[in-house]
Amino acid sequence: MQNHVAKFSRVGFILSAAGAAVGLGNIWKFPYITGVYGGGAFVMVYLVTILLIGVSLLIAEMLMGKRGGADAVSNFQTEAPKGSSWAWTKAGYLFVIGLIIMTFYSVVIGWIFYYLYVAVTGLPTSQKEAEDVFNALYSNAPYLQMALHTLSVVIVGVVLVRGVKNGIEKVNVVLIPMLILILLGLMFYSMGYDSFGKALSFMFNPDFSKLSGEAIIRAVGHSFFTLSIGIGSIMAYAASLPKHTNIFQAGLWVAFLDTFIALLAGVVIFSFLFQFGGEPAKGPGLVFMSLPVIFSQLGGIGIVIALLFFLGLAFAGLTSAISLVEPTVMYLERRWSFSKGGAVFWSSLLYFAVGILVILSISDGFKESFTIGGKPLFDALEFAVDSFLMPLGGILIALFVGFAMKRDIVEGELLGHMGNTVFKIWYFSIRFIAPLAVLFLAYNALKM
Ligand code: PHE
Repeated sequence: MQNHVAKFSRVGFILSAAGAAVGLGNIWKFPYITGVYGGGAFVMVYLVTILLIGVSLLIAEMLMGKRGGADAVSNFQTEAPKGSSWAWTKAGYLFVIGLIIMTFYSVVIGWIFYYLYVAVTGLPTSQKEAEDVFNALYSNAPYLQMALHTLSVVIVGVVLVRGVKNGIEKVNVVLIPMLILILLGLMFYSMGYDSFGKALSFMFNPDFSKLSGEAIIRAVGHSFFTLSIGIGSIMAYAASLPKHTNIFQAGLWVAFLDTFIALLAGVVIFSFLFQFGGEPAKGPGLVFMSLPVIFSQLGGIGIVIALLFFLGLAFAGLTSAISLVEPTVMYLERRWSFSKGGAVFWSSLLYFAVGILVILSISDGFKESFTIGGKPLFDALEFAVDSFLMPLGGILIALFVGFAMKRDIVEGELLGHMGNTVFKIWYFSIRFIAPLAVLFLAYNALKM
């Protein structure tokens, strides 16, 4: 009996940890950037990065959180050996990246809310109609988007203020399996199409001649994004883990589930897209232009699936959003003695306000005034997160765990779970492979 209980709580823990990582990055962003950057070769770089660097970093960040048990700034201070340099003690401010991500993440959650409404009031029946529905929202409905963005800010804020985060995370125990089931169901359905093979070859048949420097950088950045590495989210989450938790195993499971869901979403979306004659490089509207058409073709049951799918996606997005804002809230409360309400209010206000500019940057009639370096603010922020901010957060954690923390402490946390050989490989990856790979990328990004 006891064994049974222990087993369940382990599964529950892994699913809620995966819930923090599985979000819009998997179902909205991964397919869309795979489409924009040409498929196979991009996916290959993404997979290799997750395997070589991502999993190691995920474990490293869990380790910091579990040992430090506090906000990112404090963890970088308390876990560093005495007399550490200024740079280390300030590294924890990387949590601000979470708010930057929220400026567009919350806007996209708003789009999903809108599609819950579309599912009930009438799904588009053709590719063309689906594109029109999305484009009308994307570039022609700034006030509606602002209202939906506000709704998302309020929901995330209320969950954080009321401290029901743990309760919400329990939702993941149902949510993650439900998303997997829906995606698997859609995948089996799409296997009947000729386009299924085409989708597989688009995603897994790499053509390296298509791979630009920019594509490599975004693939690496996205693998950090999708695993939630480098902004203190995983740290905040791991801060309350019981001491005996096997973070090696948890890290592997989270990375596996996260990647599995992204690949599944990609295969499904591209099969449907190719079947109905769509082009892969559709940008941020890809998921909204491809899936609703198939839902509508399924008739009455399609509406139910559409509702479950968008509801699942909204929850997945919201649980990730909560973990994006939480590190800032935790910092303001602990270090600046903000009340919970105050901490949530000021962090929310910041990303809410910039979110409004993000919406204007894609709206007809306003967009000309909100571009940076020729890109709409929306794209510029997304690009900055992938190509610069997430890798920066990741490298700080890698260098900290690899060089600043004492080896015997790190060994003490992991050796028992990993064994000697795996530990050595992991430690090498954290100390050398991850930092060097990111430096190499940064160098190439600057040259671009
Ligand atoms: N991993 C989340 C996603 O894929 C986004 C995220 C990044 C959440 C960083 C928390 C921290 O949607």
